[in-house]
Amino acid sequence: MRRIMVLNAKGGCGKTTIATNIASHFAKKGKNVVLADFDPQLSSLDWLLKREASKPPITGLDAVNNPLRVPNGTEIVIFDVNAGVMGRELTAMVRRAETILLPVLPSPIDIRAGAKFIQELLLVGKVSRDQTKIGLIANRVKENATGYDKLQSFLTSLKIPIIASLRDTQNYLRAAERGLGIFDMRHSLVEHDVEQWKPIITWLNSVKSQPKNKEAS
Ligand SMILES: Nc1ncnc2c1ncn2[C@@H]1O[C@H](COP(=O)(O)OP(=O)(O)O)[C@@H](O)[C@H]1O
Ligand SMILES: [Mg+2]
Repeated sequence: MRRIMVLNAKGGCGKTTIATNIASHFAKKGKNVVLADFDPQLSSLDWLLKREASKPPITGLDAVNNPLRVPNGTEIVIFDVNAGVMGRELTAMVRRAETILLPVLPSPIDIRAGAKFIQELLLVGKVSRDQTKIGLIANRVKENATGYDKLQSFLTSLKIPIIASLRDTQNYLRAAERGLGIFDMRHSLVEHDVEQWKPIITWLNSVKSQPKNKEAS
């Protein structure tokens, strides 16, 4: 079973957007997908409630009010994690997945907070032992954005890749209103966005996003 977590201590950086889009991508590929919502606002589950019945199914789990029980036969679990997870809670959370996607907005404040969060993440045993792979997504990037330069050298030294840059576009909102991901939208509308997602999908499907020796769990 593949376990992919979308994580950042900051709210509003695109965790739910990215989690729901990953879920819809793999569902469209015919995978048995679970979307586990850890955020008390349950935005991922709200998204799922709006999902049109004709679209590939995704199983939603309320991990806020219930202990997490992933059904047998699940191929991919996506964790949409609440903001503000730190300390011991972070350690426990990180144990659940072998891949972490970390969305970061392009403002200087967000980039600095993102770097700080990555430092905290690297103190978590599983991450420092390379049992969890982290990839960064630059989200809501406007044309000619430069803010990530500084972060880039910091990330390179830590061997954390910037997987992709996603532009700021209403397409995500339009899709989300109907419980869809961009992959479910008419291709001509979202062509550019689907293109921007390709490196994310490639990374998730590659060994680069998975530890060499998966810990038994
Ligand atoms: N690439 C993007 N372009 C435009 N709007 C975006 C993008 N990513 C996220 N948003 C919007 O930003 C807001 C916060 O995103 P969300 O995914 O809910 O963040 P989080 O789950 O981290 O709090 C939402 O209204 C969402 O539609
Ligand atoms: Mg959210």
